[in-house]
Order: sequence, then structure tokens, then C-alpha cells
Amino acid sequence: MTFKSALQGFRSLMYRSGRIYNFLSNKIYNVRRKYLSISKLIGKNKHILDLACGTGFLTRFLHPSNIYEGWDINRRFLTKLKKDWMRGKSKMKYISVKQKNILDFHNYAKEKVDVIVLCDILHHINPSHFTLVENAQIHARKVIVCEPIAVKPKDIKAYTRFIRIFLKIGKFFPEKLYKLIDFLFLDNDGVNTYKKRLTWNHNNKSIKSLYKKMGFEKIFEIKDNYIGVWDSNN
Ligand SMILES: C[S@@+](CC[C@H](N)C(=O)[O-])C[C@H]1O[C@@H](n2cnc3c(N)ncnc32)[C@H](O)[C@@H]1O
Repeated sequence: MTFKSALQGFRSLMYRSGRIYNFLSNKIYNVRRKYLSISKLIGKNKHILDLACGTGFLTRFLHPSNIYEGWDINRRFLTKLKKDWMRGKSKMKYISVKQKNILDFHNYAKEKVDVIVLCDILHHINPSHFTLVENAQIHARKVIVCEPIAVKPKDIKAYTRFIRIFLKIGKFFPEKLYKLIDFLFLDNDGVNTYKKRLTWNHNNKSIKSLYKKMGFEKIFEIKDNYIGVWDSNN
């Protein structure tokens, strides 16, 4: 085994602990506003497939009448999602989680679900986001996407002061140092390389035109993030 291959599959601290992931996400983005908006767009009595669901924070904001299915490659996150549900953090009546690679398209059921949610995943799998969205549009009646505009420290506005200070300092870090911090502590999910993830570099105009290119007709801005909705009925 080479040193390089030993590093493949290594997850940062953030992706080793669902608690740390939730804590940091809450500090970086206005998570409440983001998930409440997605939940409102979903509504009631729907079958939802949340692809790359992570710790399933979205479930805390969904109407209990919905049926929720979450897929992610990170087993620890899925375990946290289930535990949180059993502790009553989500009021949903039915939740199922599966450890799957969302890019294995033969894994998808033939029957369409009502809604596929793709939240904070496109920038991880760049440039496979086009095929992922195309596949989602085949398997759902509605697709909701939510992505940050950009992921480099200099481009993130951040929701809390503590993170804003870190990012202000981080802007001056040499690329190699930031790469190391990302690898050990931040957005390294153990599957997608830094090179892939950090090429997600948009502004308000370019992210909107990307969404339009992928077929999302309705687009909303939520500070650092954009939500897009594709509906097969339109
Ligand atoms: C930034 S997190 C987003 C999690 C969640 N959607 C949210 O809103 O908090 C990205 C997630 O994508 C998962 N992931 C990355 N590539 C994946 C793949 N190919 N298949 C399944 N999950 C993947 C990671 O394990 C991680 O949980």
C-alpha cells in the first residue's frame, strides 16, 4: 500500500462526527432558514428521497406526514440520523436510511418518488453533478437542489462571527496549508478529492445560469446558498 492510497478514504474530523458536522454547519450557514425553505417546498404527504442526506438535519423541519428515505455513503452519519430520530429530534413517523453511493445509478428503484432532495452535494461530486441531476429528474416528480455559491474561504460570508473571524484569517493561508486544514478538519468527506470540491467557484450570476442549464426553473437565494426547483409538471 502506498502513502497516497492509505490517505484515500480518510475523512476529516467534521465527517467523522455527526455532532461536529451539525455544529459547524449551523455556524457556517443559516441552516434553519435553508431547511425550512426546502420543507415548505416539499409540503405534506410526500415520499422524499434525500440523496447524500448526511446527518439528516432536514428531517427536523419536515412535516411528519412525509415518508423519508436518506442515502449516504457515511455510515456514522446515518447512525446519528437514526439515533436523533429515536430520541425525538425529528417528528417524522417513518424514516429509512441506506448506506449507498448515490452515483451508482443501478441502485435506484424503478418507481418514481415525489421529491428528490440534493442538498450540499453537487459541489462535492463536481463534475458528476450533471449526471446526478439528470438521474434525479428520471426518478422523481420534483427535484430540489441547494448549494453554496462558492466554497473557498474568501468567498464564504458565514452565518456566525466565530466562523467569519476564522475565514478572514483563512483567506491569507497559503493554499497548501488550507488544503491540509480541509483534509484534517473541514470538508473532506473521504470520497471526493479537494481538487474536485474546490473547483465549485461561482458567483450569484453563474450559479443561477448553472441551475437553469440543469433545468431548475424556480431559483431562490438564501444568503450564501441557492435553492433550485425542478418540477416535472411544468
Ligand atoms: C456537505 S454533506 C451534505 C449532507 C446533507 N445533505 C446536509 O444537507 O447536511 C455531503 C454529504 O455527501 C456524502 N457523499 C459524498 N459523496 C457521496 C456519494 N458518492 N454517495 C453518497 N454520499 C456521498 C457525504 O458522506 C456527506 O454526508
